[in-house]
Amino acid sequence: MDKLRAKIRDIPDFPKPGILFRDITPLVKDPAALRFTIHQLIHPFVGEDITAVAGMEARGFIFGALAAWELGVGFVPLRKPGKLPYNVQTIDYDLEYGSARLEVHLDALGVGDRVLMVDDLLATGGTARASCSLVESLGAEVAACAFVVELDALEGRQALHGRRVHSLLHY
Ligand code: PRP
Ligand code: ADE
Repeated sequence: MDKLRAKIRDIPDFPKPGILFRDITPLVKDPAALRFTIHQLIHPFVGEDITAVAGMEARGFIFGALAAWELGVGFVPLRKPGKLPYNVQTIDYDLEYGSARLEVHLDALGVGDRVLMVDDLLATGGTARASCSLVESLGAEVAACAFVVELDALEGRQALHGRRVHSLLHY
């Protein structure tokens, strides 16, 4: 895990003054670190009846799609507004540095699906909480949420009260 931590680059005051940005691009560029990360992300869920992975745009697509591949299930993109071409379900939420909206195709998931939610980072938990609600609004069950990085001070875990949360690195 220390090797993984060394691959997260800290950028002060991005994208706004006062935000310490945890940049995962060095990790993603390193093949051994990327492979290790994906294996660690999915480890608790191997052998469970996960039917799909949902990933939040944009960084959740990187880890989510690879996690889906490794679990042998499909990937569902939760996208920023206006990007999905078919009928969508929409949810609005607050971020550490602004507000945002996510959308999912209405037919992407449904009753009987058990979904692993994957994103690069848990901060305030606004994105993850909204994403869980979005997936559940389609009738699917959220099995757990998995993150590469969790920013403990922002208490995102509390925003996900009662949900199963798996994070690899804590800051
Ligand atoms: C970042 C990050 C998470 C979210 C975490 O995404 O990738 O999705 O913020 O913050 P929260 O826990 O406070 O909601 P961002 O919206 O910056 O989008 P990006 O992946 O397109 O950069
Ligand atoms: N998303 C929300 N807060 C973040 C942070 N501090 N670093 C990287 N991504 C983030």
